[in-house]
Amino acid sequence: MYQGKCVILGVTGGIAAYKALDVASGLRKKGIIIETVMTENATKFVTPLTFRSITNNPVSVDTFAEPKIWDIQHISLANKADLILVCPATANIVGKVANGIADDLLTTTIMATKAQVVFALAMNTNMYENPIFQSNVEKLRKLGYGFIEPVEGILACGASGKGRLAPVEQIIAETLIYLHRPKDLTNKRVLITAGATREAIDPVRYITNHSTGKMGYALAEMAKRRGADVILISGPTNLVPPPGVTVVKIKSAREMAEEVFRYFDQVDIVIKSAAVADYRPAVAVSHKIKKKDEDLIIELSRNPDILYELGKRKDKQVLVGFAAETDNLLANAQEKIKKKNLDFIVANDVLVPGAGFGYDTNIVKMITPDGSIEEYPLMSKEEVANKVLDKALKIYNSRYLE
Ligand code: C5P
Repeated sequence: MYQGKCVILGVTGGIAAYKALDVASGLRKKGIIIETVMTENATKFVTPLTFRSITNNPVSVDTFAEPKIWDIQHISLANKADLILVCPATANIVGKVANGIADDLLTTTIMATKAQVVFALAMNTNMYENPIFQSNVEKLRKLGYGFIEPVEGILACGASGKGRLAPVEQIIAETLIYLHRPKDLTNKRVLITAGATREAIDPVRYITNHSTGKMGYALAEMAKRRGADVILISGPTNLVPPPGVTVVKIKSAREMAEEVFRYFDQVDIVIKSAAVADYRPAVAVSHKIKKKDEDLIIELSRNPDILYELGKRKDKQVLVGFAAETDNLLANAQEKIKKKNLDFIVANDVLVPGAGFGYDTNIVKMITPDGSIEEYPLMSKEEVANKVLDKALKIYNSRYLE
């Protein structure tokens, strides 16, 4: 599937540069051709010779080096690339690209390419958290650049925090996802709900849950990349929506219900990954509740079960639910499929490390009405998203095209 694809591996000057060797080696094993472009600083950490030996290809550093065959190198590399993976990517390279600076071979190649560019970030925590860096990332995300986020751990400087290059296997897996981008959802409208809802107690307080929206945003991103027309109905979150997606922002479960029902008749696939509050304060008091010496009792009313309603209205749509459970995962999931008339449910035990709220990874089981269960190992939320979309599309096709 990947045979003959060309990845330009951009290596910048961070201590994690040596890990890019394993990334190169892993990609080569898939039949991918790797051409390495190193910054001057990167060559201080690992020599070009090492990359040349691992990739069996010449390594470029200097824009003005005499080429073996005459061509304008940054243009030929830019055209040749199916993907440019910058690994590790420092704050410096992200800053340069975000601001249109092209002053060496790697930055000129990135500037000249029409291929997807992905940055696997690695840097000191303070640099990572620096608002200048973060706004550069946000700018590039909006323009469609991809990012593989760093992970928490001990850093080269001795500090501990977010900044370590993501695990090599994850970088390889995500690169393959970027490369393998079938447009198999073209002409499909996909509605995705994401994040938590907020149920007002009074103008300053609310009830919510730990959902961050990462799973829903990953679904939206993958569906968009695969060619779908995506409507993302999202609770409050700090995440940046993928480019090209219609985003509808809501706060409460009732607002979410209204928006979902508005779009339902126009869509082919509905994936409800939001953690919708089941209850809301019976009365949302219009002024701030003053504290008193006695306890305060808040009465809760049942929110509409959106998915249950959709299950009743379902016509042609493929309906996918999520089940975040802490006990009796499978039994609860199976009951929900029946009750809500779902095509399948994606179940995860939110107490397992690596699964559920806030993580970039998830461990899921997909369960169908006939009781069959597909179990998946720990995967990035993007990989989970692709599995969910694969399954939804398969059901759609079997139902409507045959
Ligand atoms: O029954 P439970 O809330 O656990 O079901 C979870 C699934 O139902 C999720 O897909 C969630 O988005 C959806 N849901 C909903 N409306 C609610 C509660 C949950 O659509 N009020």
